[in-house]
Amino acid sequence: MAQIELRDVSKRYPGGHDAVVDVSLEIADGSFVVLVGPSGCGKSTTLRLIAGLEDPTRGEILIDRRIVNDVAPKDRDIAMVFQNYALYPHMTAYKNMAFALRMRRVNRAEIDRRVRDVAKLLEIEALLDKRPSQMSGGQRQRVAVGRAIVREPKAFLFDEPLSNLDARLRVSTRAELKSLHQRLRTTTVYVTHDQEEAMTLGDRVVVMAGGQIQQQGAPLEVYGHPTNRFVASFIGTPAMNFFEGVVASEGGRARFVAPELRLPLDGAAPAPTAVLGVRPTALRVALDQAEPPLRMRVEVVEPLGDRIDLSGSLAGGQRAVARVSVLRAPSPGDLIGLDIEPSGVHLFEPGEFGRALQINAHSERMAAS
Ligand SMILES: Nc1ncnc2c1ncn2[C@@H]1O[C@H](COP(=O)(O)OP(=O)(O)O)[C@@H](O)[C@H]1O
Ligand SMILES: [Mg+2]
Repeated sequence: MAQIELRDVSKRYPGGHDAVVDVSLEIADGSFVVLVGPSGCGKSTTLRLIAGLEDPTRGEILIDRRIVNDVAPKDRDIAMVFQNYALYPHMTAYKNMAFALRMRRVNRAEIDRRVRDVAKLLEIEALLDKRPSQMSGGQRQRVAVGRAIVREPKAFLFDEPLSNLDARLRVSTRAELKSLHQRLRTTTVYVTHDQEEAMTLGDRVVVMAGGQIQQQGAPLEVYGHPTNRFVASFIGTPAMNFFEGVVASEGGRARFVAPELRLPLDGAAPAPTAVLGVRPTALRVALDQAEPPLRMRVEVVEPLGDRIDLSGSLAGGQRAVARVSVLRAPSPGDLIGLDIEPSGVHLFEPGEFGRALQINAHSERMAAS
């Protein structure tokens, strides 16, 4: 197993595109770290830099505290699994898994033992004699994972390995990868654009945008305390609602004021422009419909079983989404009052990457404004 470290790593591709900018990252031995962000934010490049498939323009990459910038990919002892599996089409699953070991001149009995052990672990014993064309997408993906595991590498790098699977299989394979990591404890760096996958899989998540790390931390820490508006909008589903307004001081108390809502915000400093973020799960159908902090004209009602997503428009014409639990769902066209649960409220400086601002919100002060 391995500890991996990136120190101020940047990658500029020929043509001048900065794919990765000053990335510093410590990946603890045995941990499961997920790099997450929108397409083009530099996730794959970061992974390829760790694997040695790309050279950094600046900075250092270390494995087990040794600088590996000049170490060839095959000597880094890292196995990579891609989205498109890249199995050899003319080889059986067995031969696909055995291939790298044969290249390393591992003896035949040892290869056989390792391939069969891993096949058992992944429950793909029945596939060993099949070629990729005879397998489903999910089966091919398991074989690709198996091929990485048999090598017994110091670390696994996964680049969107589940993107080609249908939704149900993605969720079950995700759970298997997690349980596999809990058994093997091999250091894993996993790339995805899917924030839910990142949250459910990672010990740590690293949120990237524009080639830079926006925030890293435990999943619930990043969800609960996003350091900027980008992270707040990217992590969590449905996405956070944002309101543009001002923080005014009224009678000695700070208050967020926007066309569609007014909300006491203790601890906030007055600001001529600010953005209030409210998680959809922090909105509830108000018990007191006379003076709700927010009114929404319901447009779309999406029942999810235990919850209902309501989307609609607010006073200023702005759209919002509320994820609520109610016994009787409102209908499209209804005007409903919404309460705001303080733990799901955040304040940011203006702009897409506006920094989080300090507030301490309290329940009773939020009930009405
Ligand atoms: N070989 C390359 N040459 C030039 N630009 C590249 C190359 N590979 C990726 N890029 C660019 O670098 C940026 C980051 O790409 P990538 O790391 O693949 O992002 P992600 O995996 O997050 O989608 C993108 O703008 C992409 O177009
Ligand atoms: Mg990619």
